[in-house]
Amino acid sequence: MSALQKMMGWVDDRFPLTATYKAHLSEYYAPKNFNFWYFFGSLALLVLVMQIVTGIFLTMNYKPDSGLAFASVEYIMRDVDWGWLIRYMHSTGASMFFVVVYLHMFRGLMYGSYRKPRELIWIFGVLIYLALMAEAFLGYLLPWGQMSYWGAQVIVNLFSAVPFIGNDLSIWIRGDYVISDATLNRFFAFHVIALPLVLIALVAVHLVALHEVGSNNPDGIEIKKKKDANGIPLDGIPFHPYYTVKDIVGVIVFLMVFSAIVFFGPTMGGYFLESNNFIPADPLKTPPHIAPLWYFTPFYAILRAVPPMFGSQFPGVVAMGMSIVLIFFLPWLDRGKVKSIRYRGPIYKIMLALFIVSFVGLGYLGLLPPSPVATIIAQTFSVIYFLFFLLMPWYTSIDKTKPEPERVTG
Ligand code: HEM
Repeated sequence: MSALQKMMGWVDDRFPLTATYKAHLSEYYAPKNFNFWYFFGSLALLVLVMQIVTGIFLTMNYKPDSGLAFASVEYIMRDVDWGWLIRYMHSTGASMFFVVVYLHMFRGLMYGSYRKPRELIWIFGVLIYLALMAEAFLGYLLPWGQMSYWGAQVIVNLFSAVPFIGNDLSIWIRGDYVISDATLNRFFAFHVIALPLVLIALVAVHLVALHEVGSNNPDGIEIKKKKDANGIPLDGIPFHPYYTVKDIVGVIVFLMVFSAIVFFGPTMGGYFLESNNFIPADPLKTPPHIAPLWYFTPFYAILRAVPPMFGSQFPGVVAMGMSIVLIFFLPWLDRGKVKSIRYRGPIYKIMLALFIVSFVGLGYLGLLPPSPVATIIAQTFSVIYFLFFLLMPWYTSIDKTKPEPERVTG
């Protein structure tokens, strides 16, 4: 026995190192037919780590003080060694996190990955999505630019639309009557420690739930139903080395795109970093057009599409909340006989296509200043968005599906 083997034996007697490695990597059997869409889970993991690492380094020079914050970011950009790179990696990482997560969620919709027995993977996923939105919103106040300030003002003001307690609630969130130094301090605390902890914990349980039941695949059939004499799924391959190596390809391609943005267009024409945010926050000067960053705009458009009632924005706030809450219920709304889009009937395909067009359309409209025509289009898209979920039990059960194959296909 080599010294290394002896040492491993010593560790294994005290800690399940080899057992964990086998259970989750070398003897974790994943379907052999993963395609492009299965890159985004590991990429989301990569971006999470990247955000945490760059975030730690930003925190070393950032000052969470309304009098110093903006200048400290400029200092990072101009004077701190490699500060510009760390900051642009973090700001690009925020947007790319959403790109990756939206594609990851879309994969779930295509292949019915949220269906039994993966309901909890999905629920943890939606909680991750919510935590990610909170994390991005809080982080956006930190540079203390005009959009940081007025964006936060608009969003926190939404809470004052809640009947009876709204006013007190929004003051409680801000810690002041307007967004101020007190707000900046608490947003900083939540952004750098509270929410990252929540995110890491949620990602951990997301993966525990995934490894408990095993991955779905583009055919939407359960590989565990067909096993060989040793109990290994016939259509399964060990995660390591097969998918570790395959995921590296995804990582390299992703990093090429990521680097191109960081080095050649970190503002992405205002989509990743808004030009108004290069102006220091001025509580006395409201910018003419306030829009959140692109990843929030579908929900912002739903909010604006709902007309106020008795002068209160509350109905819009409820609609926006509902549009996210509905995502949780997908596993129980879908009554289809098959999981994957490959074997679904035409109705689901049309509904999914309409849903995606509406979601992207809402995202685009949410970036524009409101106008009567844009509002009508946004209202139409909002109705389609809700119908996708609310009519799902009906249209998935009447849809004419194709028979699923016995074994996974190419
Ligand atoms: C930080 C964010 C996230 C990370 C790091 C993450 C990580 C992962 C990983 C590594 C996998 C396995 C590989 C793969 O299937 O791509 C996975 C699977 C899955 N994730 Fe996520 N995820 C995140 C967010 C989400 C969100 C927001 C949702 C949905 C709302 C979601 C739903 C799912 C589902 C349903 C699966 C199983 C897919 C299947 O087997 O077909 N995840 N996730």
